[in-house]
Amino acid sequence: MASIDIEKTGLRTRMIGGLRREDAGATERLAGWVHRRRDLGGLLFVDLRDRSGLVQASFGPDWTEAESLDAARGIGHEDVILVEGEVALRPDGARKDDMATGDVEFRVTRLTPLADARTPEIPVYRAPEDELPAEELRLQHRVLDLRRSELQSNLALRHRLVLEVRNYLDRHGFLEIETPILTKATPEGARDYLVPSRVHKGEFYALPQSPQIYKQILMVAGFDRYFQIARCFRDEDLRADRQPEFTQIDVEASFVEVEDVLVWITGLAASLSDVAGVDAPVPFPRLTWAEAMERYGSDRPDLRFELPIDDWTEATAGVEFRIIRSEVEAGGRVRGLRIEGGARLSRREIEALEGVAKAAGAPGLLWAKHGDDGTSGPLGKFLEPEHAAAMGLGVGDLALVAAGPDRLTSPVLAAVRDAAARVAELPRVREHAWLWVTDFPVFEEEHGVLYASHHPFVMPHPDDVDLLESDPVRVRGTAYDLVYNGTEFGSGSIRIHEPELQRRVLRALGLTDEEIEEKFGFLLNALAAGAPPHGGIALGMDRIVQRFTGSPSLRDVIAFPKTTAARALYEGAPTPVAAEDLDALGLWLRDGPAGRGEEGA
Ligand code: AMO
Repeated sequence: MASIDIEKTGLRTRMIGGLRREDAGATERLAGWVHRRRDLGGLLFVDLRDRSGLVQASFGPDWTEAESLDAARGIGHEDVILVEGEVALRPDGARKDDMATGDVEFRVTRLTPLADARTPEIPVYRAPEDELPAEELRLQHRVLDLRRSELQSNLALRHRLVLEVRNYLDRHGFLEIETPILTKATPEGARDYLVPSRVHKGEFYALPQSPQIYKQILMVAGFDRYFQIARCFRDEDLRADRQPEFTQIDVEASFVEVEDVLVWITGLAASLSDVAGVDAPVPFPRLTWAEAMERYGSDRPDLRFELPIDDWTEATAGVEFRIIRSEVEAGGRVRGLRIEGGARLSRREIEALEGVAKAAGAPGLLWAKHGDDGTSGPLGKFLEPEHAAAMGLGVGDLALVAAGPDRLTSPVLAAVRDAAARVAELPRVREHAWLWVTDFPVFEEEHGVLYASHHPFVMPHPDDVDLLESDPVRVRGTAYDLVYNGTEFGSGSIRIHEPELQRRVLRALGLTDEEIEEKFGFLLNALAAGAPPHGGIALGMDRIVQRFTGSPSLRDVIAFPKTTAARALYEGAPTPVAAEDLDALGLWLRDGPAGRGEEGA
């Protein structure tokens, strides 16, 4: 079979973006969208755009057929046209360095309009100083927004990253296997999207929150190494880094230990970084969860900045300050951040940091500035020189302090740490900070209720299994997270492969034996069929592309994303359903047909 030219088609001879000075003199047929047009009376210039780029097409009475010149005067932005003509060198002085094709222009002899475009609701062409239209408007007119070069290149990078995932994992012996979308609930901590069954009225499928249980079953079935570029669905409160449907690089392998997964996935992250031009010096540093919480107050610290949390409980032991004394007497600690040179921060900047602390749940933020003549500020005025010395405060430094139990002060100091790095413009020690956080606890407790800190399938640390019933919060797990610049890229663990241990963990989470059977019987059944020790991870594809492209939102790396109100604005979903369709499903709405909600983007 003849080889297929990747640019040439029946209509055009090549694509636009690759035109260079060496092409001068060539006759071509180009097709694309009218990006921008300038009518100078005699001459008409059109920036013509296809996926590969832009070129200036020029129309003039000396080289364009009269009929085409007439037609050209009638074309508008975003019309689709076909032009035949010649690549010509631009005269010296008229070259455009900011355009890849800026050495040439395309002299059009003949124009064939292919499709008219209505007046675009949002402009595709923007001058560098023009701001983007509001996001809601862009999502409503996604077909135009997607023509923007940033979104085109984001989705192109996404494609190359997905391809690299497949190649890397294929090279390492992983098989790509699809798991069902219409399925049974898999708990990942969110609500399920439910799909009613028409055939079995009153029964529902759940859309998968992840392929977790299926991939474990695939291990029991002997596939040894599995992966999937898996779509996951979670009905949860949305934030900038969450979408109700998103894509995971889902990986699982048999006969592995934590070390295997960490090494393989470090290799995958490094390969993806290569594709995106991001630095990923291997091996990545590691912290245990306990170390990360102690040093940074967070299980996903941004290590682009140094700035560890210090324990100043001892250093402040003699400080007569009511808040500190009462918190320490109640068993809390005094912890804080030493911002080198932070004494130059203004009152307003420090107030902004106090605001961050309050938003993270603190009653306030204590602080001390160390000036030439000692310390000042709400805490500073209680500090003697020996306290400042014990805290390691030097002249020009600022101490930001929280006192209380770790469970309250850790999130506060973590939030203040991120904000202070920004406000104080701390120098970054690295631009790309990768980190493995390991040994997450199996459970978390909130208001006396026990939750799985990842999901209930995490293998407990062998030394801690005996604590499952007596002191579950202390059970360390084999779970790990991959963190990049303060974002959780992925999360995984070694899994429980013994049915009885799995039952004990589910019981610890408060499930009765009947509930366990009903919800997880199929997993337990698989585990009883001879399960190999196994483990894996899932990385958030959308988050990786977002961070690698520096995009402000996940919506910039997904072709058709949902808003934070979980709406699809272009196609208009979700929608009310006709009464007869509900009827066919055996459903009725308690409050009658639903009106459209008022929530915004
Ligand atoms: P987890 O729930 O941590 O683990 O998800 C893994 C990764 O998926 C990404 N992610 C999301 N991305 C966008 N929008 C969301 N709503 C969203 N939720 C999660 C994150 C996250 O790190 N089954 C386990 C993995 C395992 O144990 O193998 C799981 O799903 O980047």
